[in-house]
Amino acid sequence: MGYTLWNDKIVNDNEILINKEDRGYQFGDGVYEVIKVYNGEMFTVDEHIDRLYLSAEKIKITIPMTKDKLHKLLYELVEIDQLNTGHIYFQVTRGAAPRAHNFPGDTVLPVITAYTKENERPIENFEKGVKATFVEDIRWLRCDIKSLNLLGAVLAKQEAVEKGCYEAILHRGDIVTEGSSTNVFGIKNGVLYTHPANNLILKGITRSVVLECANEIGLPVKEEAFTKSATLQMDEVFVTSTTSEVTPVISIDGTEINNGNVGEWTRKLQAQFETKIKMLQVK
Ligand SMILES: Cc1ncc(COP(=O)(O)O)c(C=O)c1O
Repeated sequence: MGYTLWNDKIVNDNEILINKEDRGYQFGDGVYEVIKVYNGEMFTVDEHIDRLYLSAEKIKITIPMTKDKLHKLLYELVEIDQLNTGHIYFQVTRGAAPRAHNFPGDTVLPVITAYTKENERPIENFEKGVKATFVEDIRWLRCDIKSLNLLGAVLAKQEAVEKGCYEAILHRGDIVTEGSSTNVFGIKNGVLYTHPANNLILKGITRSVVLECANEIGLPVKEEAFTKSATLQMDEVFVTSTTSEVTPVISIDGTEINNGNVGEWTRKLQAQFETKIKMLQVK
């Protein structure tokens, strides 16, 4: 909101210059993160920074900054923007160089940009739940990398929105992987199921927090893939992400889950998640 972290400096938005040959712009050659900020405090910031460096490493980008320095700059950005509740978006591209698919030489430095956005938590979705639709997962086979290449996700989300749904639940063949920008969970007979964190899904930070919450409230977890038809027969379904937190799914392609109501376990997980947000304020 007025300022941008641009490489190692925080500048006025109108000072940043994006090179037309930036590889992020031309190839989607980079990685990104979104961090939630509650009342001026960054939630799970270390986990997001670690995942950014891991994603970068997987595509052979060396981020020219220490994690501590990045953490400090993100903190300063939140302060200078006076962000209360919203999020930070940040990305690292392989840098700008004459257009060629192969990597540029070592002298080309990665480009870092980060900015904040104020926005309310989607409380109504948490309370009432949302509709979802199944969409074939046509993305590449390295969904574990939080890459700037998001076309598969963009097309899936658009299809969902055109059908009046909040999220596209992606499936490869009959197996549900994750949402277009969320992880998918189902609860059946008191057991929480979610796809294992392999190359077919992004290992969501919220997913990890929710698995921790499940442990804390005595809900057994199985990180096992499940099918589309099993999803429709779940007692409860929900999706998670940094901005969607724990969002209940109450119908999929018109089939109601739990008679169109938010389930008991989902409510308990939401409450446990909320305690973690509150703990942030007393740190
Ligand atoms: C494909 C995909 N899966 C899962 C997630 C959830 O990840 P997180 O909880 O870290 O926000 C996202 C978030 O953007 C995503 O794009």
